[in-house]
Amino acid sequence: EIPFVVAIDGPAGSGKSSVSKAAAARLGYGFLDTGAAYRAFAWHAVASGIELDDEASVVSLLDGFEYRIGTDPAGYAVHVGDVDVTDAIREPSISAVVSKVARVPEVRTRLIEFFRASMADEPRPGIIVEGRDITTVVAPDAPARILLTASEEVRMSRRAAELTGEDAAETGARLQARDRADSKVVDFMTAADGVVTVDSTDLDFGETVDAVIAVITDSQ
Ligand code: C5P
Repeated sequence: EIPFVVAIDGPAGSGKSSVSKAAAARLGYGFLDTGAAYRAFAWHAVASGIELDDEASVVSLLDGFEYRIGTDPAGYAVHVGDVDVTDAIREPSISAVVSKVARVPEVRTRLIEFFRASMADEPRPGIIVEGRDITTVVAPDAPARILLTASEEVRMSRRAAELTGEDAAETGARLQARDRADSKVVDFMTAADGVVTVDSTDLDFGETVDAVIAVITDSQ
């Protein structure tokens, strides 16, 4: 049986991952964090010691790239080969370079094949797939498609609240720089035709999860 696919896109700091995970847990659906796959590939590229600005070197790493990402919303691990990189891919050093590898077309094509295979293999009745180009490129035919947004001010302050000290002061500029770089590759700031916008600027976490679940329920 084909799982019910929910596509969710949005900028960094919109809360897409935590909201998608909570919604998936409540619905008994799987959850696929596509940003984690780009981060895992960036981790692999850094570990390989290649020049990240050299596209040909980046592309050459695709053949040896083996990774696994679980879809259990209660807790998923990310592996590259035998290495558990679940925590390592969240380091600022990876956030700072992930856009460089994510902009390479061959990288996107390869990862998108993997995302589609994960969607088809999902054992639960549905799967929430979250990223930047899910509503437009990865799963444009998904029955439920959502753009999760929040004002820039709120996104920065939510992300800063997760961090402390120096990180908090730097985080705004870094998020903006990453969004700017990513926006050149895919547009995740405006809703494509048929995509429902959920603006969480004035919603708390629970209200945002409720709003997302309401869109999913309406689409069924
Ligand atoms: O969602 P997250 O912030 O973890 O994504 C990390 C990076 O992966 C983004 O900054 C972007 O460069 C890339 N990405 C992408 N397409 C997606 C998801 C993430 O290019 N669908």
